[in-house]
Amino acid sequence: MLLVRDGREPPRGIDNPMRLVFLGPPGVGKGTQAEGLALQLEIPHISTGAILRDALGRGTTTGLEAKKFMDAGDLVPDAVVLKLVEDRFAEQDAASGWLLDGYPRNLEQGAALDDLLSTLQLTLDHVVFFECDSAELVRRLGGRRVCRKCGNTFHIEFAPPPLQGTCSQGGECEIYQRSDDSEDAILKRLDVYQRETGPLVEHFRSQARLIVVDGGQSIDQVGVDLQGALGLPK
Ligand code: AP5
Ligand code: MG
Repeated sequence: MLLVRDGREPPRGIDNPMRLVFLGPPGVGKGTQAEGLALQLEIPHISTGAILRDALGRGTTTGLEAKKFMDAGDLVPDAVVLKLVEDRFAEQDAASGWLLDGYPRNLEQGAALDDLLSTLQLTLDHVVFFECDSAELVRRLGGRRVCRKCGNTFHIEFAPPPLQGTCSQGGECEIYQRSDDSEDAILKRLDVYQRETGPLVEHFRSQARLIVVDGGQSIDQVGVDLQGALGLPK
């Protein structure tokens, strides 16, 4: 890591990029915490789920191919998602670091990310693992609502959507429920997470890169703990 002469780190940015991975079960709050942190650190929030939903919304071949996997709560094939990540890393804003949310998702993707970083001669600063019990995850996913225009995430009980006139894209938010937040898809996603993504926790722990945050607390408290764990001002 680059150090200035007095031993302190220079501000985060092009000369001192922060590269983070957010790991954790569906509904734990990765996206909710990533939105604010990425803004604060001035790095792009790269969510593979959001990229896939955007591709689907635009009707691209990748989006249409991914739809059946996403609606069923299954993982989209590794090669498809790796290509999205490679392309996104090549964009200019990724030179100042990134917050990767939802990738990697299994051991094969973990190895592919290791290879990609090694090819690009980049290192990860931290992998943040958010923990939470399943009953709470089901409650969060079942009540999640998203704005189609600004992409902001809400919850009917814990973070209610605005009633009118507050969408960052102008006018009112257009609130919808994600198609994979149906009861069947939620249970499938939790099962896929346990089988496929769970082993990645040990993968990163063995590399001594893992920071564990209790994601079962309130949104604000998770944010406070996250800042502390990353050594950022609260
Ligand atoms: P993706 O979009 O990544 O979904 P996910 O991992 O299932 O995670 P979520 O977005 O559902 O949850 P989150 O942790 O971001 O929670 P959020 O902040 O929204 O992936 C979707 C699909 O795309 C996958 O199933 C797969 O098909 C495909 N895909 C994506 N990446 C892939 C990959 N690498 N490989 C293969 N396929 C891939 O919060 C949830 C709700 O809880 C919200 O309503 C929020 O307001 C609320 N909330 C958040 N924090 C709190 C809190 N602390 N207290 C109370 N409520 C809270
Ligand atoms: Mg998310």
